[in-house]
Amino acid sequence: MSKTQTEMNAKAVDEQYLWHGMKPYNPQATMIVEKAHGARIQDSDGHEYIDAMAGLWCVNVGYGREEIAKAAYDQMMKNAYAPLSQSHPPAIQLAEKVNELLGGGYVVFFSNSGSEANEVAFKIARQYYAQQGKASKYKIVSRYRAYHGNSMGSLAATGQAERKYKYEPLAPGFLHVAPPDEYRQPEKASEPTALPSVQAVDHVMTWEMGQTIAAMIMEPIITGGGVIVPNEQYMIGIKEVCEKHDALLIVDEVICGFGRTGKPFGHQHYGVKPDIVTMAKGITSGYLPLSATAVKREIYEAFNGSEMYDYLRHVNTFGGATASCAAALKNIELMEQEQLFERSAIKGAEILQTLQEQLENHALVGSVRGKGLLIGIELVENKETKQPVAVQVVNDIIAACKQQGVIIGKNGATVAGYNNVLTLSPPLNTSDEDLQTIVDTVVKAIWDK
Ligand SMILES: Cc1ncc(COP(=O)(O)O)c(C=O)c1O
Repeated sequence: MSKTQTEMNAKAVDEQYLWHGMKPYNPQATMIVEKAHGARIQDSDGHEYIDAMAGLWCVNVGYGREEIAKAAYDQMMKNAYAPLSQSHPPAIQLAEKVNELLGGGYVVFFSNSGSEANEVAFKIARQYYAQQGKASKYKIVSRYRAYHGNSMGSLAATGQAERKYKYEPLAPGFLHVAPPDEYRQPEKASEPTALPSVQAVDHVMTWEMGQTIAAMIMEPIITGGGVIVPNEQYMIGIKEVCEKHDALLIVDEVICGFGRTGKPFGHQHYGVKPDIVTMAKGITSGYLPLSATAVKREIYEAFNGSEMYDYLRHVNTFGGATASCAAALKNIELMEQEQLFERSAIKGAEILQTLQEQLENHALVGSVRGKGLLIGIELVENKETKQPVAVQVVNDIIAACKQQGVIIGKNGATVAGYNNVLTLSPPLNTSDEDLQTIVDTVVKAIWDK
């Protein structure tokens, strides 16, 4: 088939040859995105939309940034490939930059995706303890409703049964606790460790025996699971509980990182220094695949053992690819130059307040919450009982927004009955005008319901 014919019949060819995840068999009317610039995407029918989800929560600097494309191109022409069993300049510079953004004290391992970055974190946590003669410390604690990836370990850590159903059994050794849901169970405590959701983690680690626990993994704010913003004290409480049980705190910054919540990393709002930080998506703003697992230097030093197998035996052909690292460096440079972390904080707070004011009296709106340009709107049948709305209501609102030229998201296929949160995560440099259009469109779509 000639190129023109393929282009003309793109939808039919897509239907025949391309398998789309997260969609029922043979989806109709798939949107084929052909072009994108700034916060706007254009489909093959010529319709333009404001992408209020930044792709899959990742295009933080917006589409069409020539500087990033050029950095990747220049790097490919200079050296397209070098494995990180050796080294290369963009990876060295990026590791240094990531460490700086984290406030210092970390060593960085590169992979391709968020799932892989989390797998590396689990392996490092287990081996770290094994090398101290504590091989029984292998279990990883995580929260229901959180997503940590699609591979057998990262999906095992994921607390979303609808993503696991029919793929189990997954990797063994993963335990789950309830998330800190301030809407459904608001928490107050004088001491962080006295918060019920923190005590739940302490109980699990105690009942399972601290001697069996390697780590806890958590996002600072549960993102794809429904934008669940914890009590301000929660994260510090979790860190204290991890220390009590000699377990590592792994913080998954795959979505929260790189300005999404208004700081370089989400955990920086909460006064903790994690043992391991994983990141992906915004590290390149989605321009090329890349992820990283940043590990505290003390943990890295433990791999300097005298036994034959004391080193990290994990390799990744494409992880930390030269052009990906060059793209990431340029992406971070743009974010800093354009003060996008700060912009996310300021604009996020503004639109959160507007959405709260304009939606609080709506019968279906239970909670509007977020941090930075990460916002969730939880829809309920009944504000007293907090019974979630049916998925169809969520889908209708998303379709109404799309009809008006704004793409918004939802927490889809997470835990049964709770896929009732609309999500917003636009590029951090979305113009004031487009942000206003997003707000107006979402508010109208909800009020028309
Ligand atoms: C919080 C979180 N962790 C991990 C992942 C997995 O990342 P990837 O899809 O790059 O494997 C995701 C993906 O959406 C995520 O949202």
